[in-house]
Amino acid sequence: MDYIQRQTGKENPLILGIESSCDETAAAVIRGRELLSNEIISSASTQAIYGGVVPEIASRVHVIAIDEVVERALSRAGVKKEELDAVAVTYGAGLLGSLLVGLSFAKSFAYTLKIPLLAVNHVRGHLAAAYLDDETLKPPFVSLLASGGHTAVLFTKTETEFELLGSTLDDAAGEAFDKCARVLGLPYPGGPNIERLAKEGTPCIPFPKMCKGSEMRFSYSGLKTAVINYCHTKEQKGEAVPKADVAASFQSAALDVLVEKTVQAALQKGVSAVTAGGGVVANGYLREKLAAACQKAGLKLVLPEKKYCTDNAAMIASEGRIQYQAGNFSPLSVNARAAIPLR
Ligand code: KG4
Ligand code: ZN
Repeated sequence: MDYIQRQTGKENPLILGIESSCDETAAAVIRGRELLSNEIISSASTQAIYGGVVPEIASRVHVIAIDEVVERALSRAGVKKEELDAVAVTYGAGLLGSLLVGLSFAKSFAYTLKIPLLAVNHVRGHLAAAYLDDETLKPPFVSLLASGGHTAVLFTKTETEFELLGSTLDDAAGEAFDKCARVLGLPYPGGPNIERLAKEGTPCIPFPKMCKGSEMRFSYSGLKTAVINYCHTKEQKGEAVPKADVAASFQSAALDVLVEKTVQAALQKGVSAVTAGGGVVANGYLREKLAAACQKAGLKLVLPEKKYCTDNAAMIASEGRIQYQAGNFSPLSVNARAAIPLR
């Protein structure tokens, strides 16, 4: 870590966060837990033409967008790059080519400015988004993580330590939304499109709520199969598929279990607060249900704004702040990783 020539250990460090793990190129600046700017350039509309993320297209868009997005984040924050105390960047999990664009950029930034590089686990970033939403939030609390790759309930003991209480046995919740959207012929990204369609229907189809009981685990492959079978049976009978009802029924079957288990875990652990993060937490139905259940159970709920649930750089800067304060600086030799275990 010889390249670092800046005082470390500041109480409220000025951190640039960079995120490029999938199809959004994002940069944000925070001072301590205060968010100063959050910029994003997305290739989602281009990706929609292909029905999902094409890694090569994502990498090329990152290369074109990264300079601009970082410039914008610094200027919106009113910060000169020389004032930064550290650069936080997602090093995994994600698409390797995409990750390498952000990581290489961040390394050269850190090296030139002689400030620490903070290599951030994307999933830990999702969990750290809550700290920006409520600057008074302190562990212990229970967190729901629901994204395209993960579905889990965690016990956050301190800012750097957590215990995995339960996770999915198969698909992640976001993955299930994306697969169900395909069955219904909805465009990428599936989650927001299912949510939109669900508003026009009622949850009248009894799809199975997998792993309903008290065990702390989730499963989505059975629900996905039930949706496929239902639609095929309708088609074989020559009947119209009631798409809005399928979307509404799928949505409640997929999300009610998350709400029940998160609240159950919080009560079992005896904590007074619950947080949530990940793209699926942008879902309005989930947010309303979770808020109502937490209120009923006397739990404080810290829900990041929707734009900080889906991929963004503010959450990476937030996790970077935690790593900075823990002194976890990364060598410039750190490499991108397509997969990183949750812990
Ligand atoms: O956290 P995220 O942006 O990326 C990952 O780290 O995976 O999550 C993406 C996932 C996708 O599967 C997407 O369909 C889902 O989050 N998602 C939603 C909504 N917005 C995004 N799922 C349900 N309702 C939404 N409004
Ligand atoms: Zn994500």
